[in-house]
Amino acid sequence: MTATPALAVTGATKRFGAVLALDDVDLAVHRGEVLALLGDNGAGKSTLISCLSGAHRLDAGTIRMDGERVEIGSPATARAHGIETVYQDLALFDNLDPVANFYAGREIAGPRWLPRGLRFMRRGAMAGVTDDLLSRLQVGIPDARASVGLMSGGQRQAIAVARAAAFASRVVILDEPTAALGVRESRSVLDLIKRLRDEGRAIIVISHAMDHVIEIADRAAVMRRGRKVGEVVPHADSRQRIVSLIVGGDA
Ligand SMILES: Nc1ncnc2c1ncn2[C@@H]1O[C@H](COP(=O)(O)OP(=O)(O)OP(=O)(O)O)[C@@H](O)[C@H]1O
Ligand SMILES: [Mg+2]
Repeated sequence: MTATPALAVTGATKRFGAVLALDDVDLAVHRGEVLALLGDNGAGKSTLISCLSGAHRLDAGTIRMDGERVEIGSPATARAHGIETVYQDLALFDNLDPVANFYAGREIAGPRWLPRGLRFMRRGAMAGVTDDLLSRLQVGIPDARASVGLMSGGQRQAIAVARAAAFASRVVILDEPTAALGVRESRSVLDLIKRLRDEGRAIIVISHAMDHVIEIADRAAVMRRGRKVGEVVPHADSRQRIVSLIVGGDA
């Protein structure tokens, strides 16, 4: 773990009308670290990651990447800074195969000397990169040419995580990556997250699954009603403390 966080936000504040969704939150994640973001429904978790991935803008607060102050005003800016986000609804195109899904919106177009309209998509190049990546991350996709809509939840999730990993040079943000997955599917997604960490990405993962948090997270930040109420090292023995931080009990 390096001393300067890959991504750090200080004083994050966001209001939606009368709702103070984020109230002066500080959060930092390092390379090679999985940070879990925990909290009850409505705690502000998705709002916080939306502001880090450019879907929303902070009303106040400072974001730094590797120590340098950045403004993240749009999803494209976040991507340009090396931040990729997998939202809970995944946003995959069901009628396309993994290769097309990987490159949706950033297709490798053919020679630059051709006028834009005459460029062709280098499907072969895209397929090669996709295959390499899926095999490097050991994502078990029986037929990489089948439509994503025909795949299982775990395979879809794995593709979405792998796609984020492929383009995220610094930070991968995952909102509930194992929600609605079976035991085996969760396992492959959790293993994928561990591999990403081992490759040196900084990872923020939102999860309600305490067993998964204890297994993969190096650190957990707990939010309640828009505020960060604590940080813990997730461990079987700290389960009770985490739960009471989440619900606001005194246990
Ligand atoms: N676009 C929006 N417009 C208005 N209010 C919003 C918006 N997004 C979030 N909120 C409000 O901000 C608060 C925090 O919501 P957020 O979605 O960040 O919670 P969360 O911790 O992700 O919860 P969950 O675990 O249910 O996903 C809630 O009170 C929510 O109603
Ligand atoms: Mg949420």
